[in-house]
Amino acid sequence: WAIHAPYVEAINRLKKERNAVILAHNYMTPQIYHGIADVVGDSLQLAIEATKVKAEVIVQCGVHFMAETSKILSPEKTVLIPDMEAGCSLAESITPEGIAEMRRRYPGAPVVTYVNTSAAVKAASDICCTSSNAAQIVAALDAETVIMTPDKYLAQNVARQVPQKTIVWYDGSCIVHERFTAAELRDFRSWQPDTRIIAHPECPPDVVAEADFSGSTAGIIDYVTREQPGKAMLVTECSMASNISDALPGVEFVGPCNMCPYMKMITLEKVLWSLHSMEGAVEVDPSVAEGARLAVQRMIDLSK
Ligand code: 13P
Ligand code: SF4
Repeated sequence: WAIHAPYVEAINRLKKERNAVILAHNYMTPQIYHGIADVVGDSLQLAIEATKVKAEVIVQCGVHFMAETSKILSPEKTVLIPDMEAGCSLAESITPEGIAEMRRRYPGAPVVTYVNTSAAVKAASDICCTSSNAAQIVAALDAETVIMTPDKYLAQNVARQVPQKTIVWYDGSCIVHERFTAAELRDFRSWQPDTRIIAHPECPPDVVAEADFSGSTAGIIDYVTREQPGKAMLVTECSMASNISDALPGVEFVGPCNMCPYMKMITLEKVLWSLHSMEGAVEVDPSVAEGARLAVQRMIDLSK
């Protein structure tokens, strides 16, 4: 912490001068999560927060689609992302043409698109979802067949939760969660049977089937805080366990985790530079902004 302290102090000072607020995703490093964030949360919580911000500037400590979502919901604010290159394998997997192709293959079926996508892809969709509300949104739609894009594993996990619908999916995946295997979870469980296994729904369905609980990053934090198991394996990004372990001294976090290279592009140094220079403002093409806002707002309204 000593080496981070000067950055943390400088950022917190500049934040006041710039009338800025820092929205940070649960996958940020502990120094960002505990040192400089004003609000932490999962994708849905951060999107809802972006509709309420009073400050003039939002610094999004997360990946590009999250900053874009904040800008879509708060177009009058300056939304800064400390590194424009902080992308997401899911967002990169699909374009509006991919949505159009799915609509041609399944005429009349509504398109539910994960927030981990560009504004143009959101605008081409009917409604967005996050990992915390995907099943609720799919179940609420008045259609027998539902198209889910771009995460095939989230779609397959939702299909199990909402068996009354026929769900068809696109071929995207998260490079962090697709690397976990059911075999490694089984091996771990046979070695340490008292471990509670908790998996993010971007994991393949056979991995989720091995878990005791599956939920969004906020759902995972709620579950571990409520249950306080002696040992917990978080089958997700590595910073999750680091960020919550101090508050849960009775829980031993064990097992493998995977690092998201995009999330880890956001560093204290880059946050300081963005607040100092005010560089890295996210803009959304006006031709797609309103369509994207409608898709995100429909999701927020349905999640209440
Ligand atoms: P949630 O925080 O909404 O669970 O999403 C996880 C994720 O991968 C964000 O990039
Ligand atoms: Fe994208 Fe996966 Fe990284 Fe989240 S963890 S930003 S879904 S690549």
